Amino acid sequence: MNSTSHTDSHRDSQPRPANALLSTSRFGGDYNPEQWESQVWDEDVRLMHQAGVNLATVGVFSWSRLEPRPGQYEFSWLDDVLDRLHAGGVDVLLATATASPPAWFTRSYPQSLPVTAEGVRLGFGSRQHYSPSSAAYREHALRLVEQIAARYGQHPAVVGWHVNNEYGCHVMRSYDDESAAAFRRWLSVKYSTIEQLNHAWGTDFWSQRYDSFDEVDVPRAMPSFPNPTQLLDFDRFSSDAMLALYRAEVEVLRRHTPTMPVTTNFMGFFPGADYWQWAPHLDVISDDAYPDPADPESYVGAAAQRDLMRSLGEGRPWLLMESATTAVQWRTVNASKPAGMYRSEQLTAVARGADGVLHFQWRQSKAGAEKFHAAMLPHAGTDTRVFREVCALGAELAELAPRVLGADVSARAAIIVDWDSWRAVGQPANPTHTDYHANLLAWYRPFLRRGITVDFCPVRADLSNYDIVVAPMLHVVSQEDLEHLDTYARSGGHLVVTHQSAILDRDLHVWLNGYLGPLQQTLGIRLEEWTALGALASGQQPTGVATKLVGPFAGQAYLWQDVVAVIDAHTEVLSTFADGFAAGRPALTRRSTGTGAAWYVSTLPDEAVLDALIERWSTEADVKTLLQRPTSGVEAVERGDLLIVVNRTAERVQAALAEGVVDLAPFEVRIEERRSTGASSH
Ligand code: GAL
Repeated sequence: MNSTSHTDSHRDSQPRPANALLSTSRFGGDYNPEQWESQVWDEDVRLMHQAGVNLATVGVFSWSRLEPRPGQYEFSWLDDVLDRLHAGGVDVLLATATASPPAWFTRSYPQSLPVTAEGVRLGFGSRQHYSPSSAAYREHALRLVEQIAARYGQHPAVVGWHVNNEYGCHVMRSYDDESAAAFRRWLSVKYSTIEQLNHAWGTDFWSQRYDSFDEVDVPRAMPSFPNPTQLLDFDRFSSDAMLALYRAEVEVLRRHTPTMPVTTNFMGFFPGADYWQWAPHLDVISDDAYPDPADPESYVGAAAQRDLMRSLGEGRPWLLMESATTAVQWRTVNASKPAGMYRSEQLTAVARGADGVLHFQWRQSKAGAEKFHAAMLPHAGTDTRVFREVCALGAELAELAPRVLGADVSARAAIIVDWDSWRAVGQPANPTHTDYHANLLAWYRPFLRRGITVDFCPVRADLSNYDIVVAPMLHVVSQEDLEHLDTYARSGGHLVVTHQSAILDRDLHVWLNGYLGPLQQTLGIRLEEWTALGALASGQQPTGVATKLVGPFAGQAYLWQDVVAVIDAHTEVLSTFADGFAAGRPALTRRSTGTGAAWYVSTLPDEAVLDALIERWSTEADVKTLLQRPTSGVEAVERGDLLIVVNRTAERVQAALAEGVVDLAPFEVRIEERRSTGASSH
């Protein structure tokens, strides 16, 4: 993906600061020296050197050490740490330390604490215990950022700013009074008049009309289904409120260090923040990823997450900010990674465009809630499998760097991700409960099985960069969005629209007269009605009854049946429901339009049908498949001149590449130079 501009949101600075952060391939992790006696720090630097660490994220949770009492700053320890790291050749991504306010702050400003929908005020004692709309929090956080930026902006170790940490991870929405007031202000800017809000929210339903913005509240726990548009606007507001906080910190940092790169760590497909809105405000996209080692399918979500990060940066290299060398501590059952899994996982990040692999955290904690979370340097010390694997990977990445650093990953296929649609299908009072992200992965997986690299994009991206565009459950769309999709198909694209798409507009009002809006003409169909067959939860198989598909694309399907009516003579029916509510109706249609084609899939086909569809689409759109037959458990990606093929399983797997079938040992990574004949198997 080259020149797309995802959003028209205004960036925080005109020139993108020179990227010292990714000028070299990065290896390292979160470093929390405040948890240790200073005697340990020299050993840390020495062992970092041994492991090939060249970047440490410092100070993420150090506010209570940096400002132990209001307005009294203690920086000498951090000066010492940064100097030692610098002397040891380790660069620093310095945190603004605002993710966990100190006890004195919470005690003085209890109204800054976040509140749940049920009205429970969350307490001090973990982290992220602040409402994004708290004026006191904002004031104190910015005061701290000012100090840090002034003191360390010119420090030779510092190569970038790490703002806050994982916005919204624990508190996606806060229902406190300051949030309610801020929500009212946000609404009055958005709607200007209360009548416009009444119209958008459909408040004539259940007597919900408002006479002034003062009467409007956040969607607290209520007796029955909340107003859907109120819920959606509150989700949008909550993302915006966190983004405003982030941008306020960036504004301070830019004043002190106009060219220092700024980032904050994303969390993959995270419902609480619309990352298309956020991405233009980060100089380097960074991500935290923790695929479950016990789940053999988790590599699919991890691959998609990495592709999302590359896409958020419009193709630019990104940073894997956090990952685990082995087990985490926050699942119910925390499996450790068998030998080789860690390396294969990290190399897929590099294959998918990362120019840095960092971890949570450098040294495993001795105390606190993360003492059982893996680290680069484990409790048992250096004479351990984990530390040896870390050192080996550090060396390998350094060796690989000249061949991958800054190199592009090109994608000819894209999948549309739309946060409003995600939020809307996740609301109560819907026809079924299909997890948007799980459905997205169901459509991503068949591309992965053929080694077709996929970008993710917002609906209004420049789609002309792609030969195939899939819109899975694109539930919420505007007239302009639909016209954009129509233009894409007519101009030679291959557009695939799936069930539950184009059902609602951006106010969540139904597209009447057969749903799909102007897409009816594009697809040559309308929808009379539908039935839900089952539901889809994250990491699960679809529940409910299956349905049979007959025709050129025959097999089983799940989740949904639309009652499709064909309205255009050029619409071909390529598969039909053999049974159930929509028996005899089209399950799969294709219509040629302009120089392209528009497909509609009114159900979730099984794997064999999806594989057959990918075969058809990639042939028709002339998109290269790196795997010549569908293969689970293998990732094949081209980055720059390299072909990287990774066995993500603990079994031997055969991968059919264009050059022939290769046999991959468990967790084997094959890195092949495309422009030369030599192949090196690692
Ligand atoms: C992240 C967080 C880190 C650490 C990690 C553990 O959510 O940013 O500070 O808690 O999880 O997996």
